[in-house]
Amino acid sequence: MYDEERTLEICVEEGTLEFHQDTTLVLPVWQKENPTVSERWMQQLPAHVQRALADVLASGVTGELGEVMLIPTFLAEGNQPSRLLLLGLGKPTDWDASACRRAAASLAKASQRYRVKEIHLPFLYPDAQLSDTRVIGVALAEGILLSRYNPSKYKTDKDNTAESGFFERITVWTEQQASVIRAAIDEGTVRAEATNVARRLANEPGNMLTPYILAERATAIAEKSGLDCEILSAPELERLGMGGILAVGSGSDNPPCMIVLRYRAGKGSGSEPPLALVGKGITFDTGGISIKPSDGMEEMKMDMAGAAAVLGAMQGIARLGADRDIIGIICAAENMPGGKALKPGDVIHTFAGKTIEVTNTDAEGRLVLADGVAYARSLSAKTIIDIATLTGAAVIALGSQAAAVMGTSEKVIERLREAGARVGERFWPMPMYPEYKEQYKSHIADIKNVGGREAGCITAGMIIGEFVGETDWVHIDIAGVAWTKKASDLQPVGATGFGVRSLIEFVRGGT
Ligand code: BES
Ligand code: ZN
Ligand code: ZN
Repeated sequence: MYDEERTLEICVEEGTLEFHQDTTLVLPVWQKENPTVSERWMQQLPAHVQRALADVLASGVTGELGEVMLIPTFLAEGNQPSRLLLLGLGKPTDWDASACRRAAASLAKASQRYRVKEIHLPFLYPDAQLSDTRVIGVALAEGILLSRYNPSKYKTDKDNTAESGFFERITVWTEQQASVIRAAIDEGTVRAEATNVARRLANEPGNMLTPYILAERATAIAEKSGLDCEILSAPELERLGMGGILAVGSGSDNPPCMIVLRYRAGKGSGSEPPLALVGKGITFDTGGISIKPSDGMEEMKMDMAGAAAVLGAMQGIARLGADRDIIGIICAAENMPGGKALKPGDVIHTFAGKTIEVTNTDAEGRLVLADGVAYARSLSAKTIIDIATLTGAAVIALGSQAAAVMGTSEKVIERLREAGARVGERFWPMPMYPEYKEQYKSHIADIKNVGGREAGCITAGMIIGEFVGETDWVHIDIAGVAWTKKASDLQPVGATGFGVRSLIEFVRGGT
């Protein structure tokens, strides 16, 4: 049975280490000329264990980031740990949130290898910089929970759960600031769970996640986290004149819909126009009549990763709170060839009133987002951020190392990049030179939906920009970063949940 429930408990205790038999004590090791374990944890171990440990440390332990070694302590008595787990933290001068996330993930993976259920973990303070307690606490929880994400939902093994990993209980020991660490771990937990929600959605196959099933999932998430959720069904979209999203959905038997989530800030609600997050939610992108080659097409089940990032971020924001109103808009459609499908050469009328000549039905993201951002504007959004697996050109430009970002507000772009840097996600700016507009001029309509191969990532973004009016707007193309073929301790093959933590950090202003 695939079980969605979380079974891990993280406790924070202030004081000196206390053990019960059969527990495992994690000893952080710094990478130095002579790798060391902090004196204050050493002192609390029985003499014979201290001696054995000194031998082990002298015999090839490097303290390299993520290194793990399990040592049985033998002869352990009632209040002594029965096993030690050495955990390499890397160089003290390199110790930051990203190092901590990786060390924590490596620890969580080791728990699986060694079948460790319960650990005692001294808080991973760098020896000198105690001021980073919050950041390290957040990263610790993120590393552990991100690494537990299990993508094998459809394996029928009997013990299959949404989270993998052996840990059931982690006790974090600290000599000070227990309340700061507690709060940080709770925040990291929320951020990692929000990311895992996005991964889970983006990994769903197209047959398991149609636009309406996505709407049901959004409704359930909204209900659980206290958000309002409204679904604009196809007839409603017709009434509103949303020709972009309707055209993209027209080739499919699974009708499109728009999902509108609302977070209302406590006392500040309504005092300022909201921020809108708009996600591309193509539950499967065949390319439509301009059909894609079959090799690798299966990956296009993740063409709703932008929508998943918006949903995850909205869940995280609802749980953590924010001081402004936020609207999440998801444009959900399935891009299929079919008897009623959009054809190359067709002209569509968008919600904003502009017409688009569709020269390639595989450039569908900008069509649904044209309606999405224009709808955000009609709800008087002050700032609009759209996030989308929009172009193969973004993959060519930046590979899997950074999302492309562009827009009309340098300030928002800068703040987003700073938020990303704090959570370990990169956003790289693309220029929106007005000359590029020439590329998507149409002879028969206001614009075309494709501007040719040159600067394909930029023209795609700029086409969305045609629908935001004067509103501050930023576009994020996550085509290269939403999916990975390479697994790490923090991340299995598949959807990455990219953007969730940056958007949460952006909204909360972070420190
Ligand atoms: N969903 C794709 C973009 C994509 C490519 C996402 C690779 C993730 C990985 C998008 O709808 C698309 O097909 N774009 C076309 C546009 C072209 C026809 C102008 C592309 O990039 O090839
Ligand atoms: Zn496409
Ligand atoms: Zn697409």
